[in-house]
Amino acid sequence: MNARLRFVFLGLIALSAAIATAAVMMLATGGPGPRPAAAGDVGGAFALTDQDGRRVTEADFRGRYLLLFFGFTNCPDVCPLTLQRIADALSAHPALKEKLTPVLVTVDPERDTPAKLKEYVGFFGPEFRALTGTPEEIAAVLKAYKVYAKRTELPGSALGYTMDHSSLIFLYGPDGAFVTAFDPTLDATALGNEMERIVR
Ligand code: NI
Repeated sequence: MNARLRFVFLGLIALSAAIATAAVMMLATGGPGPRPAAAGDVGGAFALTDQDGRRVTEADFRGRYLLLFFGFTNCPDVCPLTLQRIADALSAHPALKEKLTPVLVTVDPERDTPAKLKEYVGFFGPEFRALTGTPEEIAAVLKAYKVYAKRTELPGSALGYTMDHSSLIFLYGPDGAFVTAFDPTLDATALGNEMERIVR
């Protein structure tokens, strides 16, 4: 097949894989709500760099709920909209901020430096943190958390490339155990109510 057809074909395969992964995860989590962690749940150890340039691991978040979202600062739509919904949900339930830390993990470590992430998450609120790392560190985290992310070139655009990525919101308990994955399209009210119901 010619190059263009081949490109479209590979794109369809990647899209199908992303949709299948998302569908399996929604089935596996049974929708929003607390449930015991089980083998096969997403997550695990990580060692990354935060928006202040400090090295952090998953253990640094123990004692608090961890709301993890994967994205990147140049994302034109899904990421900023999702982060704004998280921010709005937390504003509607300020007590949640005492017990929960929202964290953006970049899928674009080449461009998302700590300084860039700090400025970006600052738009959404001081409670937000952000993590980056070397491309190898980020690749390992994406694999552990079963996050799909793929660089797509944007010829002729000043951006150069974009990142296609899956965008579930993961919630981990104070003990580090997986609690649930939220549909990122939940509106701020629904997301806030779900978090309020779970976080104690
Ligand atoms: Ni995005």
